[in-house]
Amino acid sequence: MYMDHLPPLNIGNLEIYPPIIQGGMGVRVSRANLAAAVANTGCVGVIASAGLGQYEDFPDAEFEKVNEEALRYEIRKARRLSSGIIGVNIMVALSDYENLVKTAVEENIDLIISGAGLPLSLPKYLNGKDIKLVPVVSSARTFQIICKRWKSHFNKLPDAVVVEGVKAGGHLGYSPDSIINNTAAGLEQIISETIKIADSFEPAIPVIAAGGIFDGDDIAHFLKLGASGVQMATRFVCTDECDAHNNFKLAYLNANAEDLTIIESPVGLPGRVINSSFVEKIKQGKTIPFECKYQCLKTCDPTKAPYCIAKVLANAAEGKMDESFVFAGSNAWRCNKIVPVRLLVDELIEELTLALSAEMLCL
Ligand SMILES: Cc1cc2nc3c(=O)[nH]c(=O)nc-3n(C[C@H](O)[C@H](O)[C@H](O)COP(=O)(O)O)c2cc1C
Repeated sequence: MYMDHLPPLNIGNLEIYPPIIQGGMGVRVSRANLAAAVANTGCVGVIASAGLGQYEDFPDAEFEKVNEEALRYEIRKARRLSSGIIGVNIMVALSDYENLVKTAVEENIDLIISGAGLPLSLPKYLNGKDIKLVPVVSSARTFQIICKRWKSHFNKLPDAVVVEGVKAGGHLGYSPDSIINNTAAGLEQIISETIKIADSFEPAIPVIAAGGIFDGDDIAHFLKLGASGVQMATRFVCTDECDAHNNFKLAYLNANAEDLTIIESPVGLPGRVINSSFVEKIKQGKTIPFECKYQCLKTCDPTKAPYCIAKVLANAAEGKMDESFVFAGSNAWRCNKIVPVRLLVDELIEELTLALSAEMLCL
């Protein structure tokens, strides 16, 4: 019914309406259940591939295989539950990145969204398939580097780009100082700079805004700035279908604005989490010795890391809150109820329609 008023997000031949991509959430927070529920509303549902397999229960030699099978399983499950658009999020920092990309391609996924590093060789694995490739960047310059590289090496450009601002959840592509001292460039600025580059191509590359987008007004704000759509993650945590344990969702519901805090993750990047006694201990220098059978992240040095981030995040998804922290976007404290995905998306469409029609009336 809103279709007459709101433009869909078009990525190649994919028509996404409303123009929302659910951000991939590792470890084991956005799996098939959430992705399929989101895809059933017309948005893009995204399975996060980080730490998907229960590889901690297997010998190290099976690490890649276990992750690969888990990704295959989740994609197939999502396809059974939805005929909508399903993507996977594959972080460049994962040591089995290549294998996960190849698996997603074999499974004919609709989109691969890839950040946490520069996905410079991503098109190499396409095998001629029409799978949409969407890098995640934190600056227009990074986007430009990726475009140049893909064009010269693969004669291909990104099908869309996600620009992730400093208010996002999980690992952030900004220096800890710039986040804490509030000196990082605002998402609005980076979006405008990225759109200039994206519009210089024929056809223009859709730019998708991410980080701190919470309601329909926020979506309208970025569409008015020229973004073609948004990626939202935090908002999808407090849904019935989100794959994380209820305790994970409760941490969001119980958080106050001042509970959102930044940690320096063993990955070498800052991460936004909800404060807890566990987080405080970590910040005071508590270490949790661990034996690493596989180095799951290229950027982690297990001999120096104070704790295993993959284990801590897996604990969070399993609801073991005393032994974990919860990744969250800066607006997580605004979540106040757990709702079905369909209800959340309907609410977002209504707010967005209102915000855009109010704008039309003012013209
Ligand atoms: C719990 C959680 C886990 C996340 N995990 C990943 C991940 O595995 N890979 C990734 O590229 N981004 C990850 N993100 C970032 C999201 O995909 C998304 O771009 C960002 O959080 C958007 O901001 P928002 O949460 O304020 O909507 C995660 C975010 C959250 C909240």
